[in-house]
Amino acid sequence: QANERESMYLVSEFASKYFQKVMHKTDPGKAIGLSYFKERGFRNEIIEKFDLGYCLDEWDGFTKEALAEGYKLEYLEKTGLSIVKGEKQFDRFKGRVMFPIKSMSGRVLGFGGRILTNNKKTAKYLNSPESEIYHKSKVLYGIYDAKQAIAKEDNCYLVEGYTDVIQFHQSGIENVVSSSGTALTPEQIRLINRLTKNITVLFDGDAAGQRASLRGIDLILEQGMNVKVCTFPEGEDPDSFAKNHSDEELKEFLEENSMDFIRYKASLLMEEAKSDPVKKAGLIRDMVTSISKIPDNIQQEIYLGECSRIMDISENVLYSTLAQLNAKAG
Ligand code: CTP
Ligand code: MN
Ligand code: MN
Ligand code: MN
Ligand code: MN
Repeated sequence: QANERESMYLVSEFASKYFQKVMHKTDPGKAIGLSYFKERGFRNEIIEKFDLGYCLDEWDGFTKEALAEGYKLEYLEKTGLSIVKGEKQFDRFKGRVMFPIKSMSGRVLGFGGRILTNNKKTAKYLNSPESEIYHKSKVLYGIYDAKQAIAKEDNCYLVEGYTDVIQFHQSGIENVVSSSGTALTPEQIRLINRLTKNITVLFDGDAAGQRASLRGIDLILEQGMNVKVCTFPEGEDPDSFAKNHSDEELKEFLEENSMDFIRYKASLLMEEAKSDPVKKAGLIRDMVTSISKIPDNIQQEIYLGECSRIMDISENVLYSTLAQLNAKAG
């Protein structure tokens, strides 16, 4: 329902403004929230550009203020900003620094909230729940502030987290978005596809899930896009790397370490095949599955040739594997 959605947008916009006001104008906001971002190396302009904020460490500070301003509890609950338990209401994001998540046109859809200390008891990031206005599978963090740069550079960097996006902007790289820790979806890729045919996927250097993320990349190939990948050094992610290096060093690192995805995957699988030859047939099928997603036949042929060399298998085997996969797919 249009009215309901509009009410949810309005309360989300209010929340974003409120969390910013709290962070910039109150003592605990400055001492806790703002200092947190400063310690991460975020400068004022960037904190304001991304409308970062802070939710006080009180049970219902935000909810009370919103109700007093005339926003209805119904929409506070539907956006997940407030949690209702019987007669009581609580702020979902109590004591967290806030990252508003915006649509392509700049409307606030939801939030990511980070705890300030890395304890193992609470989830590091808490996100708004799925709602009428926030469909996680259709949103990319940073798209509003990146869209012009993506079109201009004709490339989009895809990173894992909120802070990676922000730190890149501060380092002068604005064509960057984040899937915010979730597996990439076709809808998210379509958002990028409208702006460029080129994606460079940047992996945190923590190996975890990198092999798993490769699957998601087949979805990018399926949309006929060109994919490069780049892995950050062990223990680093785009945020920490950008923070600890100059803008030039970051640019240079990206240029020197971005690899064509198919070539990268072939080399990765080849390493695996070396240590476990029994697996080789399965790995070849995995490789050809990726290639089979590419809509352009000439492109497919070029890649089959390259994989034949990298993985040391005859082209004939690759072509018959491809034929088998195509037959199965109908
Ligand atoms: N994430 C999440 N919930 C968690 C952990 C992660 O939603 N409990 C999402 C967040 O969007 C996060 C992204 O996954 O930005 C990447 O996770 P990670 O690399 O662990 O976090 P960073 O972005 O590096 O966060 P930070 O630097 O603040 O620790
Ligand atoms: Mn702003
Ligand atoms: Mn990670
Ligand atoms: Mn990270
Ligand atoms: Mn990080």
